[in-house]
Amino acid sequence: MKICVIGQGYIGLPTAMLFAKNGCDVVGVDVNDEVVNNLNDGKIHIEEKGMNEILKEIINNNYKASLTPEQADVFIITVPTPAKMEDLSCDLSYVHAACLSIIPVLEKRNTVIVESTIAPMSMDNFIKPIFEEANFKIGEDLFLAHCPERVLPGKIIYELINNDRIVGGITPKCTQKAVEVYKIFVKGEIAKTEAKTAEMSKCMENTFRDVNIALANELTKICQKINVNALDVIELANKHPRVNIHSPGPGVGGHCLAIDPYFIYALAPEQAKIIKLARDTNNSMPEFVVDNLKNIIKNENIKENNIKENNIKIAILGIAYKGNTDDIRESPALKIIKLLENDGYDLSIYDPHIENENIKNSYCLKDNLEEAIENANIALILSDHNEFKNLDYDLMENLMENPVIFDTKNIVKNDPNNKVKIINFGNLSR
Ligand SMILES: NC(=O)c1ccc[n+]([C@@H]2O[C@H](COP(=O)([O-])OP(=O)(O)OC[C@H]3O[C@@H](n4cnc5c(N)ncnc54)[C@H](O)[C@@H]3O)[C@@H](O)[C@H]2O)c1
Repeated sequence: MKICVIGQGYIGLPTAMLFAKNGCDVVGVDVNDEVVNNLNDGKIHIEEKGMNEILKEIINNNYKASLTPEQADVFIITVPTPAKMEDLSCDLSYVHAACLSIIPVLEKRNTVIVESTIAPMSMDNFIKPIFEEANFKIGEDLFLAHCPERVLPGKIIYELINNDRIVGGITPKCTQKAVEVYKIFVKGEIAKTEAKTAEMSKCMENTFRDVNIALANELTKICQKINVNALDVIELANKHPRVNIHSPGPGVGGHCLAIDPYFIYALAPEQAKIIKLARDTNNSMPEFVVDNLKNIIKNENIKENNIKENNIKIAILGIAYKGNTDDIRESPALKIIKLLENDGYDLSIYDPHIENENIKNSYCLKDNLEEAIENANIALILSDHNEFKNLDYDLMENLMENPVIFDTKNIVKNDPNNKVKIINFGNLSR
């Protein structure tokens, strides 16, 4: 089977690789020539476990990257779907461009699958008409389906193979055709449904996570006000067999949780009240972090009355929204950095997972932890990278001006020797 995957990012590239690894002839298409050139040179532009090894196996064999689509049996679209600035609805312009790009090479009996996360009814009202205008009869001579992706960055290869999938076709025959494609490497259950149900299921999965994180964040704010340890509350409440309060944090990032709930909200704003409130709560967390950071600076006597903000050095540890990845899309760390810069603080930023030179330069990232924490008045943890879980407290005591850590991801343990003071969402008000 020949498969053309449109978009070679976090979803499209590993998907293309797994089809190639399982014997398909695969063309990975991307509009970014740097991405295409790098892939054809055997270089991967995203950090994800296991991908380098697979690329080595398939490149110059049955996988190649290309700027343009080619004739194939199956086309899989994995391009971005951001929220529109004006009304937060799903921006289908990339999907539209991707659909138009395959029409010149599309043939009767082909299957087209949209994996990009799209708002409910997008397949019926927007994507199907694009192919009908090109004279295809959906369900008869072209098979069109939505198969949303639900992988966890950092575990993408494992989850692509093992997660259950939802396949929603425009017609039952479209669904069946798409199911046959995924059977090539998916070991999880492949559930069949119609397109609009698949679309809504995906949007609701991310909304569920966003709303539950918002609840944990709201709990943190309440506990700070009434002086209760939020982390203890979560641990104890979760001993109830049917309760699972999520972890609070500095906000919600990434291309999914921070965006997809808006697709539902934009369709039914009067009904989607909890969904919008959860988004607002999670969006408010960077300010909450900055306000508390300022309190800590004051309470720990880091800022004497006559010291200006630009004399206070804050070591920011991590800018990726997700631990052990290099993904900074919608990362709350970026908003926190902006707020602190606006207030004139001296920032020293370190993220061991970021290798992209453009990102390194725009945030003046330090090369190592030592450089970042040297003479710092406080360290602010914003990513749950493994590198930050067992920090060397002797080193921090020696290098930092004030050995204080504000850990918004609740990953570091208390220093048994009390050389470094640890503040997290559990002891904010003390
Ligand atoms: N990243 C995730 O964890 C995740 C999980 C589930 C679903 N999704 C969804 O999958 C979709 C893709 O997300 P991603 O994270 O892979 O995005 P990404 O930005 O990593 O990759 C998208 C790629 O598509 C390319 N592209 C854009 N327009 C194109 C076109 N017309 N033709 C060819 N290539 C084009 C871009 O250059 C980019 O390399 C989105 O809808 C996203 O919401 C992502």
